[in-house]
Amino acid sequence: MSAFSGQKLDKIPAHVPPELVYEYDNARDPRMLEDPHARMRSLILEAPPIFFSPFNGGMWFVTRKKAIVDITMNPEVYSNGFLAAAASGEHKEGHAGGHKEQQGFVMLPIATDPPQHTAYRAPLNQPLAAKTLAGLETAIRDMANELIDKVLAAGRCDFFSEVAEPLPVTLFMKLAGMPTDRLAEFRDLATQATSATVDAATREMTFKRIAGILAEVIKARQEKREDDLISKLLDANIQGRNPTFQEMLGYSITLFLGGLETVVNALSFGVRHLAREQELQAKLRAEPGLIPGAIEELLRLYGIASTPRRVMRDEVCHGVQFKQGDMVLLLLPAANYDDTAFPNPEQFILGRKDPHQTFNTGPHRCVGLNLARLEMKVFYEEWLKRVPPFRLDPQAPPKFMGGFNLAITSLPLIW
Ligand code: HEM
Repeated sequence: MSAFSGQKLDKIPAHVPPELVYEYDNARDPRMLEDPHARMRSLILEAPPIFFSPFNGGMWFVTRKKAIVDITMNPEVYSNGFLAAAASGEHKEGHAGGHKEQQGFVMLPIATDPPQHTAYRAPLNQPLAAKTLAGLETAIRDMANELIDKVLAAGRCDFFSEVAEPLPVTLFMKLAGMPTDRLAEFRDLATQATSATVDAATREMTFKRIAGILAEVIKARQEKREDDLISKLLDANIQGRNPTFQEMLGYSITLFLGGLETVVNALSFGVRHLAREQELQAKLRAEPGLIPGAIEELLRLYGIASTPRRVMRDEVCHGVQFKQGDMVLLLLPAANYDDTAFPNPEQFILGRKDPHQTFNTGPHRCVGLNLARLEMKVFYEEWLKRVPPFRLDPQAPPKFMGGFNLAITSLPLIW
């Protein structure tokens, strides 16, 4: 049985005490569809800090910030590498991919553990450092303005599909040095790959086609280097050698998927918040210098990705007995509503002290966070400068989805 099939176990494992069982289906919980972040907050209020849910093969859920930080800092016990080792062909959904092990290659660096992870992660640090990315700012501004140009005069748009979706795909293509004449095709594939409504077979086909296109780009760069990320990775030094072709595919796909659904949804939830808060909109228009701080608070309120770990040996975590082989899902968006770290967690408060958990902690902490922040900063600056006060379309409320990535599926705006 797939570990994520939506079925409920008929027997709770013997090491799980009944008081720690809370029935919650991460993918199909109906309250998630009403408002995924309200559901995250309710888990803090209603469920034990670490609980076991019998759905989807049965797994633990961790909702408090301190416990999540402790788990992520202990990769020897809580592993990301299990999928690469399992090589079962079974699909595992999660951040930076949805598919961590695909068609013979391993998603890099996400599906590895230290010390191997340290070697695989190193080549990404410099190309994705804030300083290196600063050179992309003008290109991102141009892309944001092109998208705004397309919707501005109409006085309305579906922000999700018309603005939030195209931006990160276009940016990835730019970063990877991919020809923009393939933009429409690639954008469609990306949408298909991350859409929750397509069936598994179509999704599989889509991944194959994406991998095919990325393989072509890698081959072209093997022939001739350009000034792009793929070229830099080809020359990277992984413990004294360059990455193999399969490793290059593993990197490219992780980078592509890692930056896609996350940014799309972070932007959409952030813009939805602003659409409902005219005063905040006005404040940020008047003082664009407040935008980076506002982005951090929006990232806290609207965490996106949750991420799994496998327990490698019996371990007691914050008073809960885990057994070797247990699956643990770290609910990062819930941790952002943990009152002990964030007093009055439902309120938007600029300048909070405790950093949010949206990019996670530990060795796998998002390597794309500088890019994500830059994309959002430039986008909000341009959007707030050019688009008049905007609000939700009262005739068409936004639609949501739960799962490993909390998502919006449509966000009609008017101005
Ligand atoms: C708001 C946007 C984003 C969010 C919320 C986000 C969230 C995350 C989280 C939570 C992790 C840690 C996963 C884990 O611990 O298992 C992660 C890792 C990662 N992210 Fe992001 N991400 C975002 C944007 C991006 C972008 C733009 C890129 C592409 C450049 C990217 C590429 C990656 C990669 C490659 C990893 C794996 C890092 C490693 O294993 O060392 N992410 N991200």
